[in-house]
Amino acid sequence: MKVDVLLGLQWGDEGKGKVVDVLTPNYDAVTRFQGGPNAGHTLEFEGQKYVLRSIPSGIFQGGKVNIIGNGVVLDPALFKIEVEQLEASGHDLHGRLLISRKAHLILPTHRLLDAAYEQAKGKGKIGTTGKGIGPTYTDKTSRNGLRVGDIEDNFDAKYKAAIDRHKEILSHYDFHYDLEPIEKEWLAGLEKLKQFKFVDSEHLINNMLADGKSVLAEGAQGTMLDVDFGSYPFVTSSNTICAGACTGLGVAPRRIGEVFGIFKAYCTRVGSGPFPTELEDQTGETLRSLGHEFGAVTGRPRRCGWVDLVALKYAVTINGVSQLIMMKSDVLDGFDTVKACVAYEVGDRQTDELPFEISGVKPVYKEFKGWKTDMTKMTSESQFPKEFSDYIAFIEKFLGVPVKIVSVGPDREQTIVRK
Ligand code: GDP
Ligand code: IMO
Ligand code: MG
Repeated sequence: MKVDVLLGLQWGDEGKGKVVDVLTPNYDAVTRFQGGPNAGHTLEFEGQKYVLRSIPSGIFQGGKVNIIGNGVVLDPALFKIEVEQLEASGHDLHGRLLISRKAHLILPTHRLLDAAYEQAKGKGKIGTTGKGIGPTYTDKTSRNGLRVGDIEDNFDAKYKAAIDRHKEILSHYDFHYDLEPIEKEWLAGLEKLKQFKFVDSEHLINNMLADGKSVLAEGAQGTMLDVDFGSYPFVTSSNTICAGACTGLGVAPRRIGEVFGIFKAYCTRVGSGPFPTELEDQTGETLRSLGHEFGAVTGRPRRCGWVDLVALKYAVTINGVSQLIMMKSDVLDGFDTVKACVAYEVGDRQTDELPFEISGVKPVYKEFKGWKTDMTKMTSESQFPKEFSDYIAFIEKFLGVPVKIVSVGPDREQTIVRK
């Protein structure tokens, strides 16, 4: 069997959590392969809303194995809060949630370093989620990181050495902090984490595939936040693209099956960095308020704009997307006209190929007639208004990949699978 990958094609928050939950019944296991608690994946069903950060979004469909893979960075303190919230709502994760020994630990000082680096950048700050993601991945690549497997062997000494090293770095910054309370929470989190099963997930996953079991890999963030291919340096510190599932799980490229590329019918971004189709006007405000575009993790207002087909085409290519999933089309239900960016003006030329630098490019739009129909209760594509079908058909043709799922609301049920 193969690993199917579901990943974001924009700047994150496309609705990955919702769709992973919907697709989970088709799989034996769901895994996260990169990122950490910078993610906030929202799911809604039976009148309840849940936000997951490190735990895979397959956790609500009983009987499935959920795995936090080696490519993930894990903060025990935030993990404890997440687990306890789920337990309080009647979801016991023990036995269903497995954690890779090779996943890296976000230490309390990683969070402080994240804040110190952002402060030092001043106006040029990335606008990170402040969860210590960058410093943890930096320690991983500079071979200074601590992994979940380290908890099982002489952890205290390794932890102390790492914290002392971080304190030394922090002493070079004009940054004031109080480590004690966050360290206390972190150590309590560590005790919670120890109640879960640590596994050599690369063996587990490959053995599952060899036994004919199916696996869904759940991306975090989005392609335009990828450390190599995103809007660098305004990106996250991991490979959010399909290739990240290979390194973040230990599966070979030829083991990748379907690649589900998920995007909003418009576009959003949180934090700093270029966003060619951003609307800083009333239309942008309308998208934000109708789409409830406020960060699931930080509560920050998300920047909003029209869908960017130039960036989406790039994302489709880099990821080898085989099926598209369009989210939040209901947010556009009331618009008289809807726009999609089909090219960038760069200096005196037009291109539909994403350039090295996207700040300063001018979007070229195609305008579509709005469908002016409430689609939130629709259950089949036969009910789609003609204008909406035209909008989708244009996107499919432009990107060369079929849109297989359309989401018309946040609930699990508001999902239309196309033939
Ligand atoms: P993720 O990080 O990719 O999982 O996405 P987030 O959970 O951060 O953001 C997506 C937001 O849109 C959440 O609040 C979802 O409940 C909501 N949502 C998902 N799909 C739809 C949809 O089709 N329509 C509407 N209106 N909201 C949606
Ligand atoms: P999900 O999985 C949207 C953004 C931050 C910042 C940049 C770097 O919910 O789609 P980091 O804390 O990773 O160092 O921040 O990346 N960012 C996200 N934006 N959705 C996310 O995750 C994000 N995770 C990080 O806002 O601009
Ligand atoms: Mg999110």
